[in-house]
Amino acid sequence: MAISLRRSIERREERTGWLRLPKRETADPVVKPAPYLPIYEQLLAPLRDQSFTLLELGVWGGDSLQMWRDAFPRATIVGVDLGPPDLQLGPRVHVLRGDQSDAELMRRLREEYAPAGFEVIIDDASHLGVTTARSLQALYSEHLRPGGLYCIEDWGTGYLPDWHDGGRLGEPVSIAGLDGTTVSAPVEQAGPAPMPSHDVGAVGVVKRLVDHAASGTLRLGQPDLVGEVLAIESMTVWDGIVALRKSHA
Ligand SMILES: C[S@@+](CC[C@H](N)C(=O)[O-])C[C@H]1O[C@@H](n2cnc3c(N)ncnc32)[C@H](O)[C@@H]1O
Repeated sequence: MAISLRRSIERREERTGWLRLPKRETADPVVKPAPYLPIYEQLLAPLRDQSFTLLELGVWGGDSLQMWRDAFPRATIVGVDLGPPDLQLGPRVHVLRGDQSDAELMRRLREEYAPAGFEVIIDDASHLGVTTARSLQALYSEHLRPGGLYCIEDWGTGYLPDWHDGGRLGEPVSIAGLDGTTVSAPVEQAGPAPMPSHDVGAVGVVKRLVDHAASGTLRLGQPDLVGEVLAIESMTVWDGIVALRKSHA
């Protein structure tokens, strides 16, 4: 479960950085774990004094929305959740009920809160592969600004056998197994060499995104097989967060 995933990566020490979650008597394991915050500080530092709109999918009790509000005093913050609590977080924070994969809702949110497009989108909602992918389909090309940032949290749920769409590895992960292909002939003669890889749930989505990030090379080699792709300038993978930087052009 994402909750147990988060509990297992939570660290309890006090933070000294500029992103701070609201203080609670006991840490809520559903809220962003502390190790995610320095990653966001690195990614979002250039936006601290900027006027922009951040959309977060997955509100829970509103802790992360409060954190974004306090860290970015000129930003508009929009949160979407299947069942958000009744939150009053001030005039810059808008909390909506809805499904993260609802393309029509995303279109309306962009129209109302981010006419120039969202600068930052954070998917911290279902952590399921299909819905994660559908949010990307609904948001990335149409509603994320050029040069904007799209982050997917807890994509490692696909490695959890007890997560709804997670699963067990087909084979152990090890350095020794890194060159393991299904081909037994000498590499020079073998031709295409499939490299087995875990591709379940959100983990599978993240690995598919590599194909989009490599679309320039794909177009050189197999242009007939490249459809409309996500314009990814760079893709950074942490254990817990994937950040996609949208191409500027
Ligand atoms: C991990 S919590 C969000 C935590 C919050 N971002 C924070 O850091 O404080 C995930 C939230 O996503 C919501 N959620 C799950 N599936 C969803 C979906 N398909 N669409 C919208 N929200 C969803 C759940 O109701 C839950 O409140």
